[in-house]
Order: sequence, then C-alpha cells, then structure tokens
Amino acid sequence: MPLQFSRTSQGAREARVLAVGGGKGGIGKTLLTANLGICFARSGMKVVLVDADLGGSNLHTCLGIEFPGVSLGDFVQRRVERMQDVIVDTGVDGLSLISGAQDFLGSANIKYTQKMRLLRQVCRLDTDLVLMDLGSGTSFNVLDFFLVSDLGLVMMVPEPTSLENSYRFIKSAFYRLLRHREKNQALRRVIEEAMEIRNPREIRTPYDLIRVVSQLDPTRGAQYLQWLQEFRPLLVINQVRNDEDRDLGQAVRLACRKYFGIDLDYLGHIAYDDAVWKAVRRRAPLLEASDVESELGRSLWTLAREVGRRLAAAPGRRRWEVAE
Ligand SMILES: Nc1ncnc2c1ncn2[C@@H]1O[C@H](COP(=O)(O)OP(=O)(O)OP(=O)(O)O)[C@@H](O)[C@H]1O
Ligand SMILES: [Mg+2]
Repeated sequence: MPLQFSRTSQGAREARVLAVGGGKGGIGKTLLTANLGICFARSGMKVVLVDADLGGSNLHTCLGIEFPGVSLGDFVQRRVERMQDVIVDTGVDGLSLISGAQDFLGSANIKYTQKMRLLRQVCRLDTDLVLMDLGSGTSFNVLDFFLVSDLGLVMMVPEPTSLENSYRFIKSAFYRLLRHREKNQALRRVIEEAMEIRNPREIRTPYDLIRVVSQLDPTRGAQYLQWLQEFRPLLVINQVRNDEDRDLGQAVRLACRKYFGIDLDYLGHIAYDDAVWKAVRRRAPLLEASDVESELGRSLWTLAREVGRRLAAAPGRRRWEVAE
C-alpha cells in the first residue's frame, strides 16, 4: 500500500487536505484531482473529492457520473446542516464525491460566513484524505480554499498565459496568507496595497513587501521572511509535449525562487495524451479507462506517490486555521 499514511499525528479524526489550483482554466486541475483520488482510493484509503469550483463544477463528469442530487449548494444554502450529508459514492471503492453547486452563479457569490462554515467542515470530514478541485482565477475564495489545505498544488501548462497566471496565483496566495496571519491594521493595509497591481509603494514581489514591512517593523519583517521560506506550494506541469516542456518545471522553480523567494516543490509532469480528452468525451475516469502501464498512467501514479509522501511528512499543522 505505497500511498497510505497515518492520520493520527494531528488529532485522530482530522483528514489530510490537498488543494489543486493554478490560476488558469482548462489546464487539467479537475483531471488531476479525479485521478489522484482514484490512485489513493485504490491504495486502500478513504478519499473524498470536493468540487470547490463553485462556478463551474464538473468533477462528476471526469469521474463518469451524473450530477448528483445533492451538492455543496445544498450545504451552503443550509438545506442540509452537515457536509457529510452531501457526500455521494463515485462507483470507485473508497472514493466519494462532494459535487460543486449548480444553483448559484459563481464562487464570488458565496458570503464570507458561508465560506468559513464550508472550510471548517471540509477540514473535519471523517475520511483519510480530502482532495479539493479549485476553480480558476485568484479570487479570495479560491485562495482561501488553497490556503486552508495542508498542502496546495499548483498546476501549469507550457504556455505563457498559464505561466503568468500561475506566478500571479502563487504570489497572491502568499499575500493572502500574510493577510490572514497579520492582526496589525497598518501592516494589513500594506499587504492589501501589495495585492493591487499598481500600488504607490511599487511592491511587485514578496521581497519588496518584506522590505517595506521591515522598515516599519523589523521583527515583523523577519517573521514574514520565515513564512516566505516555509511557503512551499507543490508544482505539476501538465500537457508536456517535448523536452523543452519537460525542463519547464525546474525553470519555473528557479525563477520563483529568484524573483519571489518562494521555493516550489516540483513533483513532476504529465504528458499531453489524446487518451485524456477521449476519456473526458466518453465521460469515463481516465485511470479506469486507460492502460495503467501507459506513460500517462505511470506519471499519474508517480505523482500520487509524491503527493502521498509529502502528506505523510506534512507537519499536520494547517497553514491557516479557520477560526470558530
Ligand atoms: N495531459 C493532457 N493531455 C491531453 N489533454 C488534456 C490533458 N490535460 C487536460 N487536457 C484537456 O484539457 C481539458 C481541461 O482539463 P480540466 O477540466 O481538468 O481543466 P481544469 O483546469 O479543471 O479547467 P477549469 O478551470 O475550467 O475547471 C480536458 O477536458 C482535456 O480535454
Ligand atoms: Mg476544473
């Protein structure tokens, strides 16, 4: 059982939570979430997939099932009280699904208190592992889903637009994390300023922000620097077609370290493969339909093992605790 890990280190009933994001749409977040779920479930773990793409829920389709009768929408609108009650079977042993909402327009419409209730209950699901499929963009709701997880995975494809969005996503997630952790109003305002593209202090990178904060409060600046060093999103490159694409992971890692001071944890890549879109068209889960011995199958299992290893080693301390 190579992918298993114990969940007893941090209170017996806490599930480990992984979020899959990336800023851009159509880059394979849903595909990876669904298939990682299949890998972990096949390894004997209890897994709940959460379709947190509130505006464009389609994780059920990647799993080859109809949109279930209950969804996150029922929970958010309080038609059901417990998140446990919107979990449905997927047909794969050990793998369940909480489908996204279909009855409100987008994640922007979810209120702060609704989001907090949702995030709290996600972390308390009675399961081994929760995998959250995030929507695109860098809205606060998407970032908060990313930050409430034990580990956040950033997906990218070898296209300039995806690169740009991923850098923005990583930087915004870090600023948002600081915003959650900072209680001082004046420093909060500096962080909020940094989140604006054009800001008067010309803060472009986390380094710039730390420099400004250090001038105002050196101790706090040092603390931010430590948080920056601890912030290690996982990185996966999808739709790799050639050697140049294959090298992108390391190049992105180096660039992120140099310009942002963020050390991404590069897990590996997934090849571009016609089997992916063919499976989506057939509404069949990829790993169920395709040959596990294929390059694609092997890379998904390798990624699952890498994720499993990180989750097992994760300190069991969330990056951002949702207060009661
Ligand atoms: N490795 C791949 N090889 C070939 N096609 C792929 C691959 N990965 C993704 N695709 C194609 O990209 C499409 C989008 O993938 P997916 O729905 O997982 O993206 P997403 O990031 O979740 O998008 P959204 O943000 O819109 O939810 C798939 O339906 C498939 O056609
Ligand atoms: Mg998706």
